[in-house]
Amino acid sequence: MERIKILGNENLRLKGKVRISGAKNAVLPAIAASLLTKDKVRLKNIPLVKDVYTILTVMKELGANSNIKKNTLSIQVKKTKSEQASYELVQSMRASILVLGPLLARFGKAVVALPGGCAIGSRPIDLHIHGLEKLGASISLEHGYINATAEKLHGTEIKFEKKTVGGTENLIMASSLALGETVLKNCSIEPEVINLCELLVKMGARIDGIGEETIRIKGVSELGGATHEIIPDRIEAGTFLVASALTRGNIVLTHVRPDHLDTVIEKLKYSGTQIEKLNNNSLRAIGSEKIRPQDITTSSYPGFPTDMQAQFIVLMTQASGTSIITETIFDRRFSHINELLRLGAIIEVAGDKALVKGNTPLSGAETIATDLRASASLVLAGLIASGETVVNDVEHLDRGYEKLEAKLKSLGARIERIKE
Ligand code: UD1
Repeated sequence: MERIKILGNENLRLKGKVRISGAKNAVLPAIAASLLTKDKVRLKNIPLVKDVYTILTVMKELGANSNIKKNTLSIQVKKTKSEQASYELVQSMRASILVLGPLLARFGKAVVALPGGCAIGSRPIDLHIHGLEKLGASISLEHGYINATAEKLHGTEIKFEKKTVGGTENLIMASSLALGETVLKNCSIEPEVINLCELLVKMGARIDGIGEETIRIKGVSELGGATHEIIPDRIEAGTFLVASALTRGNIVLTHVRPDHLDTVIEKLKYSGTQIEKLNNNSLRAIGSEKIRPQDITTSSYPGFPTDMQAQFIVLMTQASGTSIITETIFDRRFSHINELLRLGAIIEVAGDKALVKGNTPLSGAETIATDLRASASLVLAGLIASGETVVNDVEHLDRGYEKLEAKLKSLGARIERIKE
């Protein structure tokens, strides 16, 4: 089991330049989209994180050939070896569900394990399933698997009852090869959804309303290959911005999209962090001695991302007063709080709200994280906690952060990975 050890110090000031990797949440649907064509898809700026290798294993089971050179992935699915995504892989990464729509649309059949419980609350996939049924698929749930068949999908109008990033992506991919026009309403408008649409358009899809809540897709009979660049990871970038704020540091982020970080930047500025856009793809964040408390509520893009909630809670433990953080996207997404309490944080949870007391010195301890962003928050806390903090079960962190400890080390953190 690998662990991360951090020797923290409240006087640490992170300083230097860090390059942000490609977005995990953009590359996963882009890889799934390669199922929609027999031709080769090339994806540039892919992050080398564990979730990418997991979805590539799913894709290999399905018949894909792929190779990665530096940060460019070439992937091709000439035909399927099987239409089944196994339980072992799907339960280790929910986003495997993204193969459902494309498999069904191109091959008329898909068998995907039901993802099951998840460390950040119950995460149903009913909206994916209802949407595909509306497109004409027959779907049954048997022995823990979703069995979907459709000779041909037929365009129709579908309104998502609730915003869903993965559901929007699955249905956009499926309807790209459906007969006739599909109108999707109440779509998620996350930058990762837009990045996927732009790839699909390069592959020959006819999509109107990209980036809007209503998207119209005119199905085509086949899609072709394309070369596409994955957008920078706004959550990794946000995590480094918080690291600078928390350590009163001075960090320059390169290869970022500042426009994807508007809400996060606005909140950090409110708390006193100076953030300067250096050009279209770099930002400087200078932490202030005094951190102002604030109330934050997570919501869909362009609102405050749930994937930044845990990191902000850590920042608010150092604010000059009390803050209330409300989580509206996922239930039970406060698992990091119990660990932060062990570091000395004073946080009370009531339902979907966390009351975070500021001005609280943290002291290092052994911790365990149950999900990706929870792990990141513990690493951040470890930077300013006195003494040694150990984050166990580092595989959660590795799912979505490329070389987090090496990047932090280059900024002056005393952090190392322990392999035993
Ligand atoms: C994606 C992101 C994840 C992020 C989340 C919210 C990827 C790979 N992951 O996850 O990092 O935290 O968006 O921004 O892109 N829901 C249903 N029924 C469904 C689908 C979703 O009720 O069929 C609910 C979920 O339980 C949750 C909410 O809708 O409460 C949003 O989930 P969704 O946007 O689908 O999240 P993911 O796509 O799984």
